Amino acid sequence: MTTTTPPTATTPPTATPRNAATTHNAATPRDAELERLVRQAPHRFRVLTGDRPTGRLHLGHYFGTLQGRVRLQDAGVDTFVVVADYQVLTDRDVAERLTEHVEDLVLDYLAAGIDPERSTVFAHSALPALNQLLLPFLSLVSVAELGRNPTVKDEIAHSRQASVSGLMFTYPVHQAADILFCKANLVPVGQDQLPHLEVTRTVARRFNERYGQGGAVFPEPEALLSAAPLLLGTDGKKMSKSRGNAIALSDTADETARLIKGARTDAVRRITYDPATRPEVSSLVLLAALCQGRAPHEVAEETGDGGAAALKRTVTEAVNEHFAPLRARRAQYAQDRAYVRQTLRTGNERAAALAEATLTEVRTAMGTLY
Ligand code: TRP
Repeated sequence: MTTTTPPTATTPPTATPRNAATTHNAATPRDAELERLVRQAPHRFRVLTGDRPTGRLHLGHYFGTLQGRVRLQDAGVDTFVVVADYQVLTDRDVAERLTEHVEDLVLDYLAAGIDPERSTVFAHSALPALNQLLLPFLSLVSVAELGRNPTVKDEIAHSRQASVSGLMFTYPVHQAADILFCKANLVPVGQDQLPHLEVTRTVARRFNERYGQGGAVFPEPEALLSAAPLLLGTDGKKMSKSRGNAIALSDTADETARLIKGARTDAVRRITYDPATRPEVSSLVLLAALCQGRAPHEVAEETGDGGAAALKRTVTEAVNEHFAPLRARRAQYAQDRAYVRQTLRTGNERAAALAEATLTEVRTAMGTLY
């Protein structure tokens, strides 16, 4: 964990190209292949991923990314998790409650099984080296490229800010620094992050071309998409805290029961799993299935003519049972804020040491080591 370079700093072998037209959340063949390579040789990989501290994580986060991270960590992959506190500066409302959000995020990580002994949890703001990487990286991308990023465009379209800050266009390049400072070669993310991954790959490639003198300073990391299908909120729309349709990891069993009781269903009594035509019912079925480690069709069939009431009972029980240990751990850690802060402090130190080593390499490559 203290070396600058993971044993193989190069990109894992690319045999199956990622299908750019993939719009669903299921893993592509390349993701399946990466999962296999990880199992075979976890030490060839270094993972970096992270979240914006915008509030407590919900079940969508858990099944979409969090569970996968813990699995990678447990498989023996050196794992880095960034608390992306500089990225929330694009949203003033969220940035006002940063300390609280960061503590909540770290609590969710710890509760979910991120182990600070094996994973490095750190914050953007604690790593000045990221800012030092940002400037040379910015010189490697054009303004036109920054303006074309579909995820940034989407965020601007949905922003409640009166104007668009420079950070909105440049944070994906700062994100490249997040990923490249530790030479991560695998980045587990959702679909919306793929444009940022492309920025990272472009920056790495151009840096190597310009300064690498025939070698590679940075790997070109690959995205790893989750195989978990998309979990919708209790209203059948994308699960999101701001929509008020989310079940948080930190919710109690009673709160969970109430939220599921109020979940939208439809008028057809017989329960089936058909996400395209019955999104609300199917998402409830999926939630129970994910918690129980079963196939959604099996859950649907079992509920059958029991209707929405029976389905909701099953889902409530499944969620509360599956998350009981996690919630108990979370409550325990919440009593120990010093441990939460210590987790970040240790992670920050570990990340900073690594970042300094990378920065020295960068300075050497650029001829700025005076
Ligand atoms: N942009 C990510 C999000 O909004 C958070 C993030 C910051 C991230 N840095 C990262 C994700 C590096 C993966 C890798 O969720």
